[in-house]
Amino acid sequence: MKKIDRLVCVEDFAQEAKQVLAKNAKDYFTSGADDEITVVQNTEAFSRLLIRPRVLRDVSVRNLSTMILGKSVKVPLGVSPSAFQGLAHSDGECGSAKAVEAIGGIFILSVFATKSYEEIAAAAPNVRRWFQFYMHKDRQVKEKAAQKAGFEAIVLTLDAQSVGNRRSSRRDPLEFPSHLKSLPNATPDAAQKELKIFELHDIMDHGVTWEAVSWLKSISNLPLVVKGIQTVEDAIIAVSHGVDAIFVSNHGGRQVDTAVPTCDILPEIVRTVKGKCEIYVDGGVRRGTDIFKALALGANMVFVGRPIVYGLAVGGTVGATKVMHILRDELDLTMALSGVSNVSELTPSYVNRVPGHSHL
Ligand code: GLV
Repeated sequence: MKKIDRLVCVEDFAQEAKQVLAKNAKDYFTSGADDEITVVQNTEAFSRLLIRPRVLRDVSVRNLSTMILGKSVKVPLGVSPSAFQGLAHSDGECGSAKAVEAIGGIFILSVFATKSYEEIAAAAPNVRRWFQFYMHKDRQVKEKAAQKAGFEAIVLTLDAQSVGNRRSSRRDPLEFPSHLKSLPNATPDAAQKELKIFELHDIMDHGVTWEAVSWLKSISNLPLVVKGIQTVEDAIIAVSHGVDAIFVSNHGGRQVDTAVPTCDILPEIVRTVKGKCEIYVDGGVRRGTDIFKALALGANMVFVGRPIVYGLAVGGTVGATKVMHILRDELDLTMALSGVSNVSELTPSYVNRVPGHSHL
């Protein structure tokens, strides 16, 4: 049996990836802000939420497909924008895009990707793909190039106008090998910067406000997803700005440590804005049961960041694809075992909180 065949869950890939990644790449991908409490809590919040399986229902045929931004996906699972994937494997973001193409989800390319829009389009022509960026001081968006390469929506990350305090990167700054010293999708100012994460964040507009969202909507006809919403107050403001989707995220615990786990904020946001726009979530998703729970709480789509990087690190495109299949298959089996034959049937009645944590 090949080594990769013995890796049967995301945690197996995480353990193996930590063995094979160079130290500072491992630190970059795995670290969070400060004491990394939110990194841990994001996953623990899913474990605190318990499933209420139903029995004696015909689950012989299961349908995981749904509509996202007006088009179908085969499974409501995608990859969050995660920077510098070329540090995990030379396949980089092309490998992740192919992995998502294999399951029919949605791939979001980071503005700090090591592969260009055109390379992604060539590697995974059939993947549904969106592109992410931050509001930089120069306010340039490579929107036309992205659109030409088949990217169909903009994801604006709102929670990282400064970089979080990742202690390991402060001790040992991330270093890039010479073949990775370019950011093909970044705007000119950003691309000229040396590839150092803390310096890259210097080019961000720290004074940016909701006006930027209105501006983006005025210059682009692409659907707009705002990522990094962590309160119901901001969800309401986002809706009032006409966004197409709210992406509930705390940046994988990499920004504000002790920020509330995303799965804990989701129910309130869903109750308040469901139906006014779509709602996505990431943060701590490591298992099909986590995806099941997030969908039950009302998310339209669930995304993973670190798991795809772990898959890439272990086996390039093959590893990344295996990770996405594991998550998809775990979701499918959880549905079968819980009496759910269609993702559209998932409601909060399928989950319960541990006594003492209940607010559903
Ligand atoms: C970049 O967005 C990071 O979290 O390092």
